[in-house]
Amino acid sequence: MKAVRVPKERAEEVRRFAERIGAKDKGRLIVSREDFVEIPVADGFEHLFEEFEIVEQSDPVFTQRKSLKRLLKGRVPDEVTPSGYKIIGDIIMVKLNDRAKKYAKEIGNALLKLNPRCKAVWCDYGREGMLRKPRVELIAGEGSETIHKENGCKFKFDITKVMFSLGNQAERLRVARLVDDGEVIVDMFAGIGYFAIPIAVHSRAKRIYAIEINPDSYRYLLENIRLNEVENVVPILGDSMFVTPENVADRVIMGHIYCQDFLPVAIRAIAERGIIHYHESTPEAVIDRPIRRVEKACSKAGKKCRILNFKKVKNYSPGVYHVVVDAEVY
Ligand SMILES: C[S@@+](CC[C@H](N)C(=O)[O-])C[C@H]1O[C@@H](n2cnc3c(N)ncnc32)[C@H](O)[C@@H]1O
Repeated sequence: MKAVRVPKERAEEVRRFAERIGAKDKGRLIVSREDFVEIPVADGFEHLFEEFEIVEQSDPVFTQRKSLKRLLKGRVPDEVTPSGYKIIGDIIMVKLNDRAKKYAKEIGNALLKLNPRCKAVWCDYGREGMLRKPRVELIAGEGSETIHKENGCKFKFDITKVMFSLGNQAERLRVARLVDDGEVIVDMFAGIGYFAIPIAVHSRAKRIYAIEINPDSYRYLLENIRLNEVENVVPILGDSMFVTPENVADRVIMGHIYCQDFLPVAIRAIAERGIIHYHESTPEAVIDRPIRRVEKACSKAGKKCRILNFKKVKNYSPGVYHVVVDAEVY
C-alpha cells in the first residue's frame, strides 16, 4: 500500500494534484508523521511523484474503518474496533488490545469481508529475541505463507516463522540505490533477503554475501533468490559473528537493531575502505549513541571513520527510534 511522503508544507499542493489526476487512494486517509505526511496513492501512479519518496505504509489508516464499525455494529463495541491493520502479500496483520481479543473472530471475519483478496487474518503480538521471531495467532481464514511485492522485488515467506517490517521499506530501497557498479556487499543479518534482494535487483553489485542464522529464513532466502532471478547473491547459513568473510566488502549492512557487538566483525569485513550501515533501536534521550558506538568500535580496531548519514528509519516504541548510521571506514 503505497503513499507519497511529502514535507508538511507541500502536503496541500500534492494532495490536490493527487486528487485531480485520480491518483489518491480513496480507501485510505492521509496520515501525518512528524515533519511529513503520507498521501496514499493507488498502484501504478507512483512515477508521477518522482520528486518525493514513495513508501509502503507500515500502518495505513483505512477510510473503511467506518465500514468495519458498521459491519461489526451490535457485536463489537466501537472503541475496541481496530483503527488500522497491515496487509502483507495476501495476509492481514492486526494488533488487538486486551479488550478487543475476545472479539478476535468477529473482527477477523469482518476484515476478510472488507479485503476479499486476502486469505487469512493474524493477530500480531510483536517479535522476540535475536532471531526476531514473530508472535502471531490466526483469527480468521487460513494460510501463513505469502508472497509480498515491494520495490519491484518479491519476498516469499511464512509469517509465523519470519518477520517482515513494512516500515523498513524506504530504507531497503535507499541502500539499494546507494550501491555503485561492481561493489561487494556483506549483509550480516540477511533474513529472507530484505536488503540483498533489492540490492541485487536495483544495482550492479558484483557480489552480495547474505548471512542468515535462522534455517527457516535461510530457506526463504534461497527461494527468493530463485523467485527474483538474481545471480550475484551468495547465501551463507550461519552466525555472522563467526562466518562473515574478512577484507572483502565495499559495503556492510548490519540490519539488526541489536547488533552493536558485531561492529568489530563488520569492520574486519571491509576491504580497504568501505561503508557500514549500522542499525540500532535507540531511546530519544541517547539518540547519538549509535554514532558513538560506531566511532568507538572503529578507533578500537585502529580505523578511522567518517559519519556520512544518520537517519530515523521508524518509530520503534514510544520515545524509541529505529535508526541507521552510514559510516565510511578506512
Ligand atoms: C530483524 S531481521 C532484519 C530485518 C531487516 N533489517 C528489514 O529490513 O526488515 C534480522 C535477521 O537477522 C538474523 N540474525 C540474528 N542473529 C544473527 C546472527 N548472529 N547471524 C546471522 N543472522 C542473524 C535473524 O534471524 C533475522 O532474520
